[in-house]
Amino acid sequence: MTIHKLTVALDSRSYSICIGSGLTQYDETGDGGDSLLIPRLRGKDGVIVTNETIAPLYLSRVRKWLAAAGYQGRPVILPDGEEYKNYTTLQSLYRELYEAGLQRNGFICALGGGVIGDLAGFAAATYMRGIDLIQLPTTVLAQVDSAIGGKNGVNLEFGKNLIGSTYQPRVVISDVDFIETLPEKELLSGLGEVVKYGLLAGDDFISFLELNQTEIMERKSRSLAIMIHSCSRIKADYVERDEFDLLGVRAALNLGHTVGHALEKMYGFQKLPHGEAVSIGLVCALTLSVAMELLPESGFQRALQLISHYRLPAVVPEDADIDQMIELMRRDKKVAAGSGLSMVLLRGLGDPYLEDNVDPVLLREVLIKCKQPQLNP
Ligand code: NAD
Ligand code: GLY
Repeated sequence: MTIHKLTVALDSRSYSICIGSGLTQYDETGDGGDSLLIPRLRGKDGVIVTNETIAPLYLSRVRKWLAAAGYQGRPVILPDGEEYKNYTTLQSLYRELYEAGLQRNGFICALGGGVIGDLAGFAAATYMRGIDLIQLPTTVLAQVDSAIGGKNGVNLEFGKNLIGSTYQPRVVISDVDFIETLPEKELLSGLGEVVKYGLLAGDDFISFLELNQTEIMERKSRSLAIMIHSCSRIKADYVERDEFDLLGVRAALNLGHTVGHALEKMYGFQKLPHGEAVSIGLVCALTLSVAMELLPESGFQRALQLISHYRLPAVVPEDADIDQMIELMRRDKKVAAGSGLSMVLLRGLGDPYLEDNVDPVLLREVLIKCKQPQLNP
């Protein structure tokens, strides 16, 4: 299968993203094949950080694949779950790095979803003031989003991702074969972010998602690879324009997330999966964009169709406390500093902007409206 390759152009921090099938498959009869995708690292010794779900599936193959390129990866297997993305796990990870004798020229290979990528990424950014990082994302969410752009971090007991940094990997290798074993709800969660990229990018990518919905839902490698390549390119463009999230450009990637985070907080992160919360958040952002006469009804209905085709939720739960939601949105850490309520809105499909002064009265009306289905029959 074709290897899709793109560059995230960030001067001396530039790196490649490689997407395809079989990329981490060590071929016993060959020459190590795609391990050649790994760029030259500073040293030969590193650790592979993964979790107890992913290790039995992919660790041995990834170790062989690294070895074929001349690198030793000692495994560090962490417990599985968002609840372990914390300071205690981070400390145990630092200890493992130290006991593995990792030096300044060592590397970390993050083999997992966004939780592993965020933890391992922060460890790589901070251990000995920064060691090389390879991202091997294994979920759709991580392949289209979290492994790209360098954001990492851990949760504190009072909030998510409160400690973190922006530290770019040396390479991202998105092997679509990993997606075969992904639980269905995690696939859907990732597709919530994919639909977000459709709304950010506009007609061409939306058309692709409309035409290839069956193949994507059935996890056909070819369609997954094209989808992940497109999302990676869209995200890379935002990261290139605003690497450190200072200009309000990268903030567009938070389309759907202000409402999404509020819902996750209200319902608990276990009960409402991230992608579903984002999907409902997208509908709220779209509805507000229509109410402000920015987005035409035709674009709104097309977006709702897309969300429904990917079996994502499109209504705010009936029992949601709207005033509490608005209060949580005001406190969202991604909201720009200042007293106003910020949200990413659309002036059309493919034309996002950051609205810094959302009218709370209109927002309230919109959130109430979003408790009802809005898709035309
Ligand atoms: P996750 O990492 O928890 O993975 C979801 C589940 O799937 C886990 O149980 C995991 O063990 C399992 N899994 C992963 N790959 C698998 C595979 N190939 N086969 C079978 N099971 C597999 O969840 P996620 O959705 O990938 O990531 C969510 C995290 O990402 C959150 O902590 C969020 O804050 C973070 N995030 C970070 C960024 C960023 O820019 N850094 C962006 C978005 C989200
Ligand atoms: N996930 C949002 C960002 O990387 O900026």
